[in-house]
Amino acid sequence: MDHSIKPPPAAGAAAPSSRRWVLATSMCSLACIFLLSAGILLAAAGYRRPFQPRTAAAWDRFSRVQQKAAPASPPPLARTGSHSHHAAPVPAPDAISPSAGGGPADAWSPEEEEEEEEAGPPPAPAPAPSEEAGEDDEDAQCDLFDGEWVEEPARSYPLYDAAECPFLSDQVACRRNGRPDSGYERWRWQPKRCGGRTRLGGPEALELCRDKRLVLVGDSLNRNMWESLACILYAAVPDRSRTRIVDDAGSEYRIFRAMDYNCSVEFFWSPFLVKLETKDDRTKALMLDQLPPMLQRTLGADVLIFNTGHWWTHTGKLRAWDHLEWDGKMVQMAGEEAFDGALRTWARWVDYNIDPSRTRVFFRSVSPEHKSVNWCYNQTAPISKGNGNIAPSFPKSLINIIEKNIRMMKTPIVYMNITRLSELRIDAHPSIYTITREGKPLSKEQLQQPLTYSDCSHWCLPGLPDTWNVLLFNFLIRPLPSI
Ligand SMILES: *[C@@H]1O[C@H](CO)[C@@H](O)[C@H](O)[C@H]1NC(C)=O
Ligand SMILES: *[C@@H]1O[C@H](CO)[C@@H](O)[C@H](O)[C@H]1NC(C)=O
Ligand SMILES: *[C@@H]1O[C@H](CO)[C@@H](O)[C@H](O)[C@H]1NC(C)=O
Repeated sequence: MDHSIKPPPAAGAAAPSSRRWVLATSMCSLACIFLLSAGILLAAAGYRRPFQPRTAAAWDRFSRVQQKAAPASPPPLARTGSHSHHAAPVPAPDAISPSAGGGPADAWSPEEEEEEEEAGPPPAPAPAPSEEAGEDDEDAQCDLFDGEWVEEPARSYPLYDAAECPFLSDQVACRRNGRPDSGYERWRWQPKRCGGRTRLGGPEALELCRDKRLVLVGDSLNRNMWESLACILYAAVPDRSRTRIVDDAGSEYRIFRAMDYNCSVEFFWSPFLVKLETKDDRTKALMLDQLPPMLQRTLGADVLIFNTGHWWTHTGKLRAWDHLEWDGKMVQMAGEEAFDGALRTWARWVDYNIDPSRTRVFFRSVSPEHKSVNWCYNQTAPISKGNGNIAPSFPKSLINIIEKNIRMMKTPIVYMNITRLSELRIDAHPSIYTITREGKPLSKEQLQQPLTYSDCSHWCLPGLPDTWNVLLFNFLIRPLPSI
């Protein structure tokens, strides 16, 4: 299989649909079993599937319940990407007709068409009543990523109990690892001028995930976000025996399913987004112009959330690659140039492979670390105006490269700019309440050396990534911006 970047559509317009078809067939073994068993169970329960158009309008379904008002304008950061030089974006072949065999799901479930027109009540609890009125008026000024952390007095945070989430990994299960304080679980992000947003809870998130496939792709910070999402949804499912979790030993692929909701949330580990290849001589090459084959398995998802960042800054023994490659040749490049090339490769893949009428694409900005000047150890409260300064932990030049590449894409990308709001959460890392690289609890001696053994990169759960997910769902409530 050739995994290099596809040429522009003019050069191979017929390719995507056939490729997707091949993928649909290969994915069928897993997914058909799921669909089949779901189908049998639904039939047994006499459940009539509610009308579910397979278009972007599906996104409106929940909004229609929530909002009486006319569709809101897209939030400021939901860029539409329709620049003048892309005035007529080339639709992916599948976009032309939603019933013409779009992605895998369409390909393997033709018999479902019969039920399309029949309406029926959904079997699960209705979403909670709508948030504070008047939020649409505020849309114009609302920037979800600009605001402050407020201590939540109500019982609404955390969104789940650590004990309620059996698959929470040891790395971030801070309470289980003995963290004595729990205040970090109860801070709520309060954006400015955004009405009651970010009050969204698990039941609403679960409802928004109904009949959807959400896929996160990236490094362990996106795995952190995936775990949070899976825990939020799991805790909200009325019958938890009707959920499944698949977690491969290497943690490179994970999936959580809530069967009664036909909701699945997947994670693919790909810390560079581009392909890291192990050569015959066991050296590692970072292929800046190629994407890992598994990325094709994300096609057809309803929501895709990407991230990359930290692995590009690793140096010395921690650096994952031995050399860089471009166009089949070994190349020497400065780190920034390599990063830019890789993001261009990723952006082109998205632009030529993602059908924006079917898939909403998010890019989560860099998750900050709290080391050196801003050490996370012993911290029990967020940084506020009064108690400290933020020293940015990630090179601004790399952040600029990310933002530049996203700006140049023709696919509408929601840039989840969580860097700043997360920088304030110096209190929210596992620090010493984590496990070692070998997966063991920290020894007494190690606990005495927080500067060596603290994890100030990942985040405790429940905790900060729950907020990233709440913000994610705030975008999913809104209709797809028209393109
Ligand atoms: C289940 O969800 C998938 C998306 O993950 C969707 O394509 C499919 O139509 C849904 N199935 C039913 C029975 O609604
Ligand atoms: C952490 O907090 C404890 C108790 O407040 C204090 O005794 C200790 O010195 C602190 N350690 C560091 C490294 O700041
Ligand atoms: C992201 O947030 C930072 C800090 O608030 C801001 O400086 C930057 O311009 C934002 N980026 C985008 C693309 O909006």
